[in-house]
Amino acid sequence: YTAQIDANDIEKGTYSHFMLKEIDEQPFVMRKIINEYQTENNELKMDTGVRQAMNSCDRIYIIAAGTSYHAGLVGKEFIEKLANIPVEVHIASEFSYNTPLLSEKPLFIFISQSGETADSRAVLVKIKEMGHPALTITNVPGSTLSREADYTLNLYAGPEIAVASTKAYTAQIAVLAILAVDTAKTKGLSLDFDPMRELAIVANAMEVLTDQKEAIEDLARKYLRTARNAFFIGRSIDYHVCLEAALKLKEISYIQAEGFAGGELKHGTIALIEEGTPVIALATQKNVNYSIRGNVQEVVARGANDMVISMKGLEQDTDAFVIPHVHELLTPLVSVVPLQLLSYYAALHRDCDVDKPRNLAKSVTVE
Ligand code: G6P
Repeated sequence: YTAQIDANDIEKGTYSHFMLKEIDEQPFVMRKIINEYQTENNELKMDTGVRQAMNSCDRIYIIAAGTSYHAGLVGKEFIEKLANIPVEVHIASEFSYNTPLLSEKPLFIFISQSGETADSRAVLVKIKEMGHPALTITNVPGSTLSREADYTLNLYAGPEIAVASTKAYTAQIAVLAILAVDTAKTKGLSLDFDPMRELAIVANAMEVLTDQKEAIEDLARKYLRTARNAFFIGRSIDYHVCLEAALKLKEISYIQAEGFAGGELKHGTIALIEEGTPVIALATQKNVNYSIRGNVQEVVARGANDMVISMKGLEQDTDAFVIPHVHELLTPLVSVVPLQLLSYYAALHRDCDVDKPRNLAKSVTVE
């Protein structure tokens, strides 16, 4: 198999780093996904094999590593809430020896930007031996995980070169949203959610954010240039984004960063808060807005340097940054953009090698 790569896609052009270019490409990737998963009559376009597999399983097991695992956590919300199928999300390397009890008719979904992650492949080999069906969601259609699975859904994100994954994460979430809605529709469930319309709104919101680089660079300078550690807190779907934001920051800036569920703070993490510790809180979900605001007060009372990133409609005067309003389920696609940029600028101002961080590889092909 030879990868079909357009030379334009692997040039940085006027960008100083691939990571910044790839962050900026996200609105276009959203629009590409909308086009690719839509028929001429504006119906959802989905492989019939995938439709059947989604409709005949009784439980879904999502297997992934790194950023793709974090996209899987968001995908679980979509599939459970919209398509009414129970979902478990597993770290590939853990699944191999801690294999859970499986349901009668499991469907495995492998999420992998590269399609080459060895830990995920090991699980694929194992479940194929057991005779279970597998769907791979990948950016590289001819990759190992794609070839060895029964079905593939393409991310259409174009080559991702920077080690820290950005546009593949948002593409994975968008495709998972489409998959969940498509499944709900084939099941005849009534939905008040038009994914293509909502993703188009997301694409516009992403563009608004990528135009606000200076504001985010200021925040990175103010909060993270000399920080030793940083904490991200959020509840519900925001919590999943916090895990991804912390991974992004630690990968490229080497700041010790962790994402926590707001409610867990008082069970340990709050002991780490000192005068000036940066705490970045996400507030995009109406039903937990009150509680996450309470967490912010708790850390501020202990000296934290708080930065709240909220969504329009839920914002307060003291918030550091407000993202445009999008559908509540799709907020990860938008809230992650300032967080990716925050990591980028933090790394830049700490003189780190943004595109090739130490000790990391783009695709990990050993178990
Ligand atoms: C490596 C990369 C990460 C990526 C992970 C999973 O650790 O540095 O950016 O999220 O592998 O890769 P995959 O290609 O399976 O999504």
